[in-house]
Amino acid sequence: MDKQKPVGDWTTDFDLFDPDYNLDPGPIWRDMRERCPIAHTDRWGGAWMATRYDDIQALVRKVPELSNRQPTVFPIEDGKDILADYFAELLPPLTKDPPEHAPLRRLLLPFFSAKAVEAHRPFTERLCHDLIDGFIDNGACDAAEDYARQISPRVIGHLLGIDLGRTDEFVGWVQGLVELGASNFQLRSESYRSLRSFLGEQITRRRTDPGDNYISRLLASEIDGKPVADIMILNMCMLLLVAGVDTTWSSIGSSLLHFATHAKDRQRLAAQPELLATAVEEMLRLHAPASAGRVAMEDLDHDGITLRRGERMILSFPAANRDPAVFECPDEADIGREKNRHVAFGVGIHRCAGSNLARLEMQVALAVWFARIPEFELSHPEAVTWSAGQVRGARTVPVNF
Ligand code: HEM
Repeated sequence: MDKQKPVGDWTTDFDLFDPDYNLDPGPIWRDMRERCPIAHTDRWGGAWMATRYDDIQALVRKVPELSNRQPTVFPIEDGKDILADYFAELLPPLTKDPPEHAPLRRLLLPFFSAKAVEAHRPFTERLCHDLIDGFIDNGACDAAEDYARQISPRVIGHLLGIDLGRTDEFVGWVQGLVELGASNFQLRSESYRSLRSFLGEQITRRRTDPGDNYISRLLASEIDGKPVADIMILNMCMLLLVAGVDTTWSSIGSSLLHFATHAKDRQRLAAQPELLATAVEEMLRLHAPASAGRVAMEDLDHDGITLRRGERMILSFPAANRDPAVFECPDEADIGREKNRHVAFGVGIHRCAGSNLARLEMQVALAVWFARIPEFELSHPEAVTWSAGQVRGARTVPVNF
């Protein structure tokens, strides 16, 4: 992505790709919330952005007039019409509006119930131990790169039932698509093509060699008495990769950065592992990774602003999670916080379908880490990096232990 001129006023010219934005967005959100809670920018094709909790709760309910066909905050390709139906087909059910959304979401939900995701706990625990075995004797590692980033693509590969022998290839493409490809369009397209062809092969294989996995069960499903088309299954697999990989690894990486830099919280969690569940919720609130986009299908008014047909709205769930109208001391962590109605997983009809799996991965990743490495700290604060754009997460977290 081209280097942009620095932002002067975030309320009139915000830029989610500004390198400093994800580094420390708290003061920026506070300023936007106070001076202009629904701000506009002309950058990247133009967009609005909502930063208050109540506005976000209201905006997600404006369906289908605020459509999910473009839930990304990336600029779309030149010459493409943002309202085109084509976009709605890409990542169902995320990109679908009512009435098509609900039946597709119903197909997914059984895979992600609290009970169903427990089936992935032993695999995730073993994976976390194996990763730690790989670096524990060095007394140092990059907690984001060597640990956080390695977990979610493998758990999703396990859920999809892909060939275990091809896991590393699969993980490489997923990372090319969701991470390295964000600033490298060619890599992004190549990874996307490789993944589509790989998932196509996996779907064909599961027709003759079914098992107890996501692809096989979708192949056996029906909507309105008709089998689900292969292309729909392929796009639903792609959605898990786009929605479930860098979000979860970001949350694990940001949590480990937090504990590496906040000795009191680290020692408290090490001494009181029963705080794990509230600690995970607090990390999700404070370092929520994902913002979401919407596009107006018609002119619509909200609280004094008018969105014109075709204009984009970015819902900053991370900013809403720091709204002082809802959370006490919103910029500080309290790993025992009990009242924590955060919106890290979104809200409304598109609320994250994979939240139980995300929580399980975060809880297992932190529990195994703290059991094996209870004392650790950041070794090179100047080396810490964060991602830019839609998904916020720590990407380089060098620690000593
Ligand atoms: C910490 C990790 C995660 C976070 C913070 C997160 C966040 C979100 C958010 C904010 C949305 C709503 C998007 C919108 O309103 O447009 C969403 C939707 C979704 N997420 Fe997650 N997600 C996470 C992990 C996962 C995982 C692990 C999976 C599955 C493997 C997953 C699957 C989905 C799906 C399928 C949707 C679309 C639901 C629908 O449209 O009905 N997510 N996620």
